[in-house]
Amino acid sequence: MLEPVHENGRRYCDSTYFMPNDETELTRLNILHQIYLILLDGHLTTAPFRSNPQSSPRILDIGTGPGDWAIEMSAEFPNAEIIASDIGIFDSGLGQLELPNVDFQLADAQSEWTYHEPFDLVHMRGLSGAFADWGRIYQQAFAHLKPGGFIEVADADPAGDTICFCRESGNGDEVEVEVEGMRDLDLDSDEDDDDDDDSDSEPEPEPEHESKSESQPTPTPTQTNLQKYTTALRTAAKEAGYPRDLEHLRKTALTAAGFVDIKVIERNIPIGLWPADIGEKTLGKMTLIALLEGLEAYALRPLTGSGKWSLDEARALCELVKEEVLAAEGLRVKVRVVTGRKPVSFAQKRKDVLARARARARFFREKGTVPGDGDGDGEGVDWDFGEKDHHDPS
Ligand SMILES: C[S@@+](CC[C@H](N)C(=O)[O-])C[C@H]1O[C@@H](n2cnc3c(N)ncnc32)[C@H](O)[C@@H]1O
Repeated sequence: MLEPVHENGRRYCDSTYFMPNDETELTRLNILHQIYLILLDGHLTTAPFRSNPQSSPRILDIGTGPGDWAIEMSAEFPNAEIIASDIGIFDSGLGQLELPNVDFQLADAQSEWTYHEPFDLVHMRGLSGAFADWGRIYQQAFAHLKPGGFIEVADADPAGDTICFCRESGNGDEVEVEVEGMRDLDLDSDEDDDDDDDSDSEPEPEPEHESKSESQPTPTPTQTNLQKYTTALRTAAKEAGYPRDLEHLRKTALTAAGFVDIKVIERNIPIGLWPADIGEKTLGKMTLIALLEGLEAYALRPLTGSGKWSLDEARALCELVKEEVLAAEGLRVKVRVVTGRKPVSFAQKRKDVLARARARARFFREKGTVPGDGDGDGEGVDWDFGEKDHHDPS
């Protein structure tokens, strides 16, 4: 597993996974990490975690790569217990560091997960094309989360039809889908399931804009080089059995595994120096560097491995795409961050509600007024335990 393979002038962690794990790729991932931070307003996660000296969440970062996310999470949650896993090690990445609360593990997420304690958060970023069966990955994540724990999956793989010449299509504005304010949740508090939260409700129907065709290659009469490139990548990935599209970021991919309370953040961020706004321009510059640096990384192994492209042909296509990208005005890439929650079991939710009832009763008793039946123990109050709260396949 740890014998690096040198191909096409790049270093790969094994003979299968399509992205390199050399210094160039490490730098590109560092830039992408900063882009995600900007997109999430400086937050490392959209899951409702709160830095709290008392909280000690267990966190699993699958496919951690150089580990920027896990390293920063460990600083923000000094009491957290973080497991960061990957099939390979980056030189000067997390796999080479000793941090008190991060355990780097070499593990293939496609194999049986063997963690003994459940997690509060499972995080996966940039893993499009890493797995043959995302359904299985989500099932394992579900099984290894605590009731009420979160899964967060983020991606922006260009092969997933994420890049558009948006000005040409008249769709140049940043969009945000179903963004709800980031809820703060103290992981060690009893108050984790607020009463007005429909979190354990039935999975919501798929929004119309998430139609299946959105992530399928769209044949066009005259394809741009970028379209040729992304179509070729998607075709090669499909043939290899490791799909690269946005299917795993659909709500239904998570609800099928049992997750509820799905939140989707989607942004179309600029690529290039064309935005007038200075913040957008900076973001555009960072995205441009990451994209140009990634063109060959995304493509060389999949295309040459398909047997249909020589290395020179693959490089020539990347060069054409590069010229097109540099000349383009109004280019944007879609980034998606999807968060879901494992339902709290009926028994756990009942315990939580009773604990809150007792706390309320105590409060009123101390104030001299008692709700419910008057004996101050909370009994006799009409508590709603949430009839819909049975969707827990674990
Ligand atoms: C594009 S990098 C993303 C790294 C990191 N998540 C980030 O956002 O910076 C994908 C990582 O997934 C790892 N990976 C690929 N297949 C994997 C698998 N089956 N199990 C665990 N990790 C895997 C790769 O080795 C690589 O480090």
